[in-house]
Amino acid sequence: EKEGYEHFTLKEIHEQPKGVKETFTRRLDKNSNIVLDGITITAEDLKNINKIYIVACGTAYHAGLVGRRAFETLAKIPVECDVASEFRYRDPFIDEHTLFIAVSQSGETLDTLQSLREAKRKGARVLSIVNVVGSSVSRESDDIFYTWAGPEIGVASTKAFTTQLTAFYLIALHFAKLSGSMNDERIKEVVDELKMMPEMIQSILDQSEKIQKLAARQFNNEKVFFMGRGLDADLALEGSLKLKEISYINSFSIAAGELKHGTIALIEDNTFVVALATQDKLYEKMVSNIKEVKARGAHVFAIAKAGKTVIEKSADEVFYIPETLDLLTPILAVIPLQMLAYYISSIRGNDVDKPRNLAKSVTVE
Ligand code: F6R
Repeated sequence: EKEGYEHFTLKEIHEQPKGVKETFTRRLDKNSNIVLDGITITAEDLKNINKIYIVACGTAYHAGLVGRRAFETLAKIPVECDVASEFRYRDPFIDEHTLFIAVSQSGETLDTLQSLREAKRKGARVLSIVNVVGSSVSRESDDIFYTWAGPEIGVASTKAFTTQLTAFYLIALHFAKLSGSMNDERIKEVVDELKMMPEMIQSILDQSEKIQKLAARQFNNEKVFFMGRGLDADLALEGSLKLKEISYINSFSIAAGELKHGTIALIEDNTFVVALATQDKLYEKMVSNIKEVKARGAHVFAIAKAGKTVIEKSADEVFYIPETLDLLTPILAVIPLQMLAYYISSIRGNDVDKPRNLAKSVTVE
């Protein structure tokens, strides 16, 4: 079943071009118009929605953070994003003008399901982004977007994440069309770029040797930092989670602008820092943050867009992702992060597919 791959996790990392493609091609008609069969929200319904809550756990929550930025940038709708175990107990303000979006690979995560029920009780409309067809979360939702990632066996979520991002981009564009916040031409530009993602992901996977070599040099660290700004700050959370859960290395993530408010005290000689610098308007700021940690002795591995080479002067190593829209970079930049976590875990001899203390589906509180 592993089709020649050593672990399901690696197989699933490599299935992402296909998963992402499946997820969007089923939603585009022959003229590339977005058609979302499972979502019946009309332009009139959308006028009545003044707030979106995105709620999920773990990696699905990190997808939600990217989703928040997609809705805000493309559809101009205010969004809050929260982890389900917090959302449930914080008495959030929800009414019939709220759209609640649950994100879950399994569709069985208890905190996510209970949050959904709470939101429904308060009158919200419920949309879910789920991978498992017929799961509890999907059964209790008004609107459903199925990610077509296929079964995910590795405990660490990989292809579910990139298909969840694809889902958010499509839903945000669909809402932008319904509300008129973007014209057709502009929507088409983003859709055309989205259609390039499978090929671009593949081009990153084809460079896995680079990440393998990096892992061979950095597998023995006691701590690792991930930092970024904007969408890269959201993605830093995912990079850090992926690494810690399968490698058992103590990893942290930080919005790079927060460094000097405390965390920089932890940077020592040879501390390994992964710096995400994919956002054009934040690029120079990230280069400064890299210089700050370098000055304290850090070893910096940076991820930037192709062509943005100024960073080479400050980072020790740079991995380039293909040039694309800032909003879409997380779907690409997460790939080297997943590979880094995978190879470090595998070099350390860990049970990559079944990391200690973790379950694939968390159906208890
Ligand atoms: C991390 C991971 C978990 C899940 C989380 C939510 O790699 O897999 O953080 O993302 O437990 O699970 P679902 O998406 O099934 O609700």
